[in-house]
Amino acid sequence: MARIGQATVAAPANIAFMKYWGNADHALRIPRHNSLSMNVTGAVTTTTVEFDDTFSGDSVTIDGELITGGEADRVSAFLDHVRRLTNTNHFAKVTSQNSFPRGAGIASSASAFAALALASVTALGLEWSNEQLSALARLGSGSASRSIPDGFVEWHAGSDHDSSHAVSLFPAEHWAIVDLITIVQSGAKEVGSTQGHQLADTSPLYEARVTSVPDRLDTMKKALAAKDWQTFGELVESESYSLHAIMMTSHPGILYWSPATVRVLLAVAQWRKEGVLAYCTIDAGANVHVLCQEADVARVKERLEALEGVERVIEGRPTHGARVIE
Ligand code: DP6
Repeated sequence: MARIGQATVAAPANIAFMKYWGNADHALRIPRHNSLSMNVTGAVTTTTVEFDDTFSGDSVTIDGELITGGEADRVSAFLDHVRRLTNTNHFAKVTSQNSFPRGAGIASSASAFAALALASVTALGLEWSNEQLSALARLGSGSASRSIPDGFVEWHAGSDHDSSHAVSLFPAEHWAIVDLITIVQSGAKEVGSTQGHQLADTSPLYEARVTSVPDRLDTMKKALAAKDWQTFGELVESESYSLHAIMMTSHPGILYWSPATVRVLLAVAQWRKEGVLAYCTIDAGANVHVLCQEADVARVKERLEALEGVERVIEGRPTHGARVIE
């Protein structure tokens, strides 16, 4: 038997309430500031990694399709980090399945690299701490560092590989926030996050954003601890606008929104005036995460589905981080 080891891991995507945008070190994905997120059900990646000393290269299969090109290279580059940090030289067979259809607009590098990190280390027979696993996942995709610990998570920017990792602030049961992932665009986005992070500091507004993060994060964490929905929601929505202001004012500028994005933003603002307290947050794409409390899910979802340009709405609820399932 030439097999070295195999493991299967399920990892969730996460939605950032305080966003990661811009790096102090691009190669290591050391961010300029902390970020905060919630792991969500509704978008899970399940990945099996098998190391075998007869393999002559890495292979990557995603949702039944053998992957080549840039995506496969990114996985192999990540596996090179695994090999370097674990002092091994075996190639791997990676088989990944997403709980959401490919190209649904929620393909998540966070769930993908969190699953890959834990599965790789486990397949090699190693037991790493969550901090070590989170730092490793970060090398694949920054936001993946936040899909390792449970529930509500803060990624400490840190200053080097070991110190830049995420920790759990509260378990998933802390607060039943619902993320209504509102898909208005299912194709691939034009500017990927990796490219976006490199443009961040070309915005004249970026340093002001970085300076303002610690205070805003502190207030957000207090609202999260106190479960103060209105304070929390207002902060999360304004943080998303702060992120998009940076994107729009970068050189070149990036406008991720589509007409349907704006339609959702305006509708949610109107519903708030009518007493339904939902809030919006948007990542590097056109889709809108509409956050609401459990009591409002049915009516907010129904209203979202009725808006022109909304393709589908996926429910995401707080959940634990990456777990070994086999
Ligand atoms: C806007 O983690 O996707 O979603 O490290 O290059 O893979 P890479 O970037 P990524 O950036 C996430 C950007 C964001 C905000 C966030 O999730 O914090």
